[in-house]
Amino acid sequence: MQNLVGDVSSAARILPELDGEKLFISHGKGAYLWDSHGRKYIDTALGFGAVLVGHSNDAVVANVAKALSDAAAPSWAHVREHGAASALAAQTGALSKVIFTNSGSEAVHLACRAARAYTGKSKIAKMAAGFDGWFDDVSFGNIGSAEALFDSNQRPSTARTTLLRFNDFDDVERLFAEDGDIAAVLVEPMLANAGCIMAAPGYLKHVQEIAHKHGALVIGDEVLMGFRVFNGLTSHHYGLDPDLATVGKAIGNGVPVSALLGKPEVLAAFEEGRVLRGGTFSGNPLASAAVTSTLQLLEQADYAALMARGNELRTFIRSCFEAEGVRVTTSGYGSVFTIWLGDVEPTSYNQAAEIANTEFSKALHLALRKSGVLMMPSPYGRIFLSFEHTDSVIEEMKQAFSVAAKEIAKVFAA
Ligand SMILES: Cc1ncc(COP(=O)(O)O)c(C=O)c1O
Repeated sequence: MQNLVGDVSSAARILPELDGEKLFISHGKGAYLWDSHGRKYIDTALGFGAVLVGHSNDAVVANVAKALSDAAAPSWAHVREHGAASALAAQTGALSKVIFTNSGSEAVHLACRAARAYTGKSKIAKMAAGFDGWFDDVSFGNIGSAEALFDSNQRPSTARTTLLRFNDFDDVERLFAEDGDIAAVLVEPMLANAGCIMAAPGYLKHVQEIAHKHGALVIGDEVLMGFRVFNGLTSHHYGLDPDLATVGKAIGNGVPVSALLGKPEVLAAFEEGRVLRGGTFSGNPLASAAVTSTLQLLEQADYAALMARGNELRTFIRSCFEAEGVRVTTSGYGSVFTIWLGDVEPTSYNQAAEIANTEFSKALHLALRKSGVLMMPSPYGRIFLSFEHTDSVIEEMKQAFSVAAKEIAKVFAA
C-alpha cells in the first residue's frame, strides 16, 4: 500500500471509500465486475470507455492469449499487424493509413507531431476543458484550470498550444485572425471528458472550413468516441472530414492499444522516414490480436439497439429522480452520457462548470455502489454501456437507480 503513489497509477482511478473501505476489483465478465470481497457490480466505467463488447470477451481473450503464447515481443514485423491495420482502415474512409501506438495520449502526441511536420507550423489549438491525454502539450487548459474557463481577456496560450472555446463559432475565426502559426485544431466530436457536451449543429464543419482556409489541419480526437457510437469514426457521421484522427479505447476492448489514422499524404513523412515514430510496444502482437477480434465483433454489433437501450435508461433516470423531487438531466449518446443535477444540458464548458455539483455526483456514486452499480464519481464523469448491457442488465440498473434516487432525495430534493 505504501509504495504506489496515491494508491493508483492514474489519478482518474481515485474513488471515495464506502463505509471506510476501498474498492479493489478482482475480475470481470460481460457487464459485471467483482471486488476483492466477491461483491458483484454492474460496471458503467468500462475501462473509461474501452470495454465495448464486455469484460473478458471470450473471442478477444482467446486471440490475445494465442498471441501471447506465440511471443509477445518479436521485435520484427509480425503476422498480426497488417490484419489489424486493414480491419481498422476498412471503417475509416479517407483516413487509410495507420500507425499503432499503445495509449490514447501517445496517439494524440504523434498526431500533433504529424500536423507540425506537414504544415511547418508550431501550435496545436485544442478545445478548452477537452481531455486529449496527459502529455505536456495537450494537458494545458484541462478541466479545473483557470485557462479552461478563459478567465482573463487574453486567449490562453503557450509556445506550443493555444485554446479554443468549444461550440463558439466566432472564436474559431478570432483564433486564426490572432495567430498565423497554427498547425492543427484538435477536436473531439463531443467534448466527452467535460461531461458529454454535444457539438452544436454545423460546429465541427465550421472548425474544419476555417482551419483549412488558414492552412491548418484538423485532428479528430476519437480516442473515446471512435467505434463507441458508430462502427467507425463519429466525426464522419457529423460532416467532419479530419485529416488525422486518433483512436484507442474501444478498438481493443480494454487491451492497451491506440492508433493514429491519417490521409496518405499527411502521413507520408513517417513513411519516408523524415519524421520519427517509435515505440517498443507499438503494434505489438497482443494489441493487434485484440484489435482484429474486437473489430470483427463490432462489425456484427447492433449499435442502434445499444443506443436505444441507453436512451431508454436516460429517460428512466430522469423520471425516477423526478418522482423523488430531484430534477436531473443527461447529455450525450445512449452508450456514453453524463448525468447533471438540474435541468440544464450544457452546451459549453463554462455552463457545465457552473452546474457541476461535486457533492451530488459523489453521493450518487456511493448510493449506486451500495446498490451494485459502479459509476464514475465526478460531475463530468460518464456512464458507458457495452453490448453486454442487455435489457435484463438495464432492468437491474433501473432498480439500482430507483433505490439511489430515494437516498439522494434526502439531501437534494427541491
Ligand atoms: C478524448 C481522449 N483523448 C485522449 C485520451 C488519452 O488516452 P489514454 O488515457 O489512453 O492515454 C483520452 C482518455 O480518456 C480521451 O478520452
